[in-house]
Amino acid sequence: MRLSCIIASNFLILLVSMLKSSSQEQVNIKRSDFPPDFLFGAATSAYQVEGAVLEDGRSLSNWDIFSHIEGNIADGSNAYIADDHYHRYLEDIEIMHSLGLTAYRFSISWSRILPRGRDGPVNKVAVQFYRNITYNLLTKGIHPFVTLFHFEYPQELEDRFGGWLSPLMQEEYLHFAEICFTYFGDQVKYWITINEPNLFSEMAYERANYPPARCSPPFGDCVSGNSDVEPLIVVHNMLLAHAKAAKLYRERFKSKVDGVLSIAVCAFMYVPMTDDEKGKAAADRALAFNVAWTLDPLVFGDYPPEMRSIHGPELPNFSAEERELLRDSIDFIGINHYGTLYAKDCTHSVCVCNISSCVQGSDRAIRGFTYTGGERDGVPIGERTGMARFFVVPRGMEQIVQYVKDRYNNKTMIITENGYASPGNEENDFVHDDKRIQYHQSYLAYLAQAMRKGADVQGYFVWSLIDNFEWASGYGPKFGLYHIDRPTLNRIPKNSACWYGDFLSNCSLVDASNIQSQYNEKENIVMCV
Ligand code: FCB
Repeated sequence: MRLSCIIASNFLILLVSMLKSSSQEQVNIKRSDFPPDFLFGAATSAYQVEGAVLEDGRSLSNWDIFSHIEGNIADGSNAYIADDHYHRYLEDIEIMHSLGLTAYRFSISWSRILPRGRDGPVNKVAVQFYRNITYNLLTKGIHPFVTLFHFEYPQELEDRFGGWLSPLMQEEYLHFAEICFTYFGDQVKYWITINEPNLFSEMAYERANYPPARCSPPFGDCVSGNSDVEPLIVVHNMLLAHAKAAKLYRERFKSKVDGVLSIAVCAFMYVPMTDDEKGKAAADRALAFNVAWTLDPLVFGDYPPEMRSIHGPELPNFSAEERELLRDSIDFIGINHYGTLYAKDCTHSVCVCNISSCVQGSDRAIRGFTYTGGERDGVPIGERTGMARFFVVPRGMEQIVQYVKDRYNNKTMIITENGYASPGNEENDFVHDDKRIQYHQSYLAYLAQAMRKGADVQGYFVWSLIDNFEWASGYGPKFGLYHIDRPTLNRIPKNSACWYGDFLSNCSLVDASNIQSQYNEKENIVMCV
């Protein structure tokens, strides 16, 4: 920690707290507001950063095929090179170390480890690659926090039997998980089995924004698919795949390092659009149909009663044995939280979606007959970002944590993703990302508040360490603490990286403009000063 930083920060804290109002958004948040063993990390996923898609025996994945088709990726880009993390992982681990991270969340590419699924051999070069990562993280005192499925799998599984629409995928996944537990279980203590089953199923099987891009009207006009039913089947298969992997892990691998595992759920906060009972019920339904949809089965053994009471036979049933397998099959709850949306009832009112922050189909059972969007009478719920449905609403962090705490009896939570997307057009001023600093400061302040009120939260991950391939949006929205200079692929710290490093050394400045990343011409590097 720099001495000048300590003096400046103390002085600034005093000054700023005198000058500024004391609203939560402006509170100075410090590392010491969190427990000493609280994990502070950053997150990425394999497909979004690795590149090297054709190297060392990796097979083509669902995303390679999808991004190759014209029109599927907003800026016509692909992730064949991405951030070239496959070759630059040591440099990236250096960066994490320099920031003082205590954990790094990344995913293991299924197509790298098992290019042909369970019908083919384990790719030993890929095993070595991920062991190099875990080993180098551990030598720097950084916990590897590993996701197994982060939206990417060998295309062959899709072609052969229809991927996650088929129960066969459960067995494929179980084999993949077993291989990962076998080869990495001695070094990895934290596992996310599946990232965002709720968002993945919606994007891939309801709205056709992700592969295999299936849908039906009114959600979209696809060649094949059934948006009212298929997301339910996909999540069902994912939950059972998770539960089987969790059982296997607990029986054979957990004891190696006393590891823990969970899923990460995409958890927007939803608040009523109208101040009446219907509005409140709509917000409750939106939470149940999005967040509790995947969490209730993993904690209680069945889908939320709110969903059972609306859905007919399209919502699959679990056998008694499956319910037993699912119940308590997570050790903590992984929460990916970015923003808050309004929810409005569509059972008694007409819901029209004609702005970019809402989605079609709000008058269907699969959406709980609930409209969700970021504007009320044209006024946005919070500041807009580079993602149409992500609005900056810091108090939503406290509210979503409170919701999960209340519903699941204060089960341990970890914020597995939280981040700010600058719009692509801020590209020219990428380094001065002061809005990102404000975003993290204010969301952390509300997280600390939830914890003061008793929420058991044990970690926080910034999405993302570096700018990366944002799925169907390509390289437009940028979430990184580090900018990637595309021609050279150099990592350049934004002000937010410098802020995070200072925050982690307990030297957080309220006035972010005092921390800058600066270009040092002589040494041709950018550094925090
Ligand atoms: C989440 C994904 C992650 C990233 C962020 C912005 O839904 O898990 O890969 O795309 O959104």
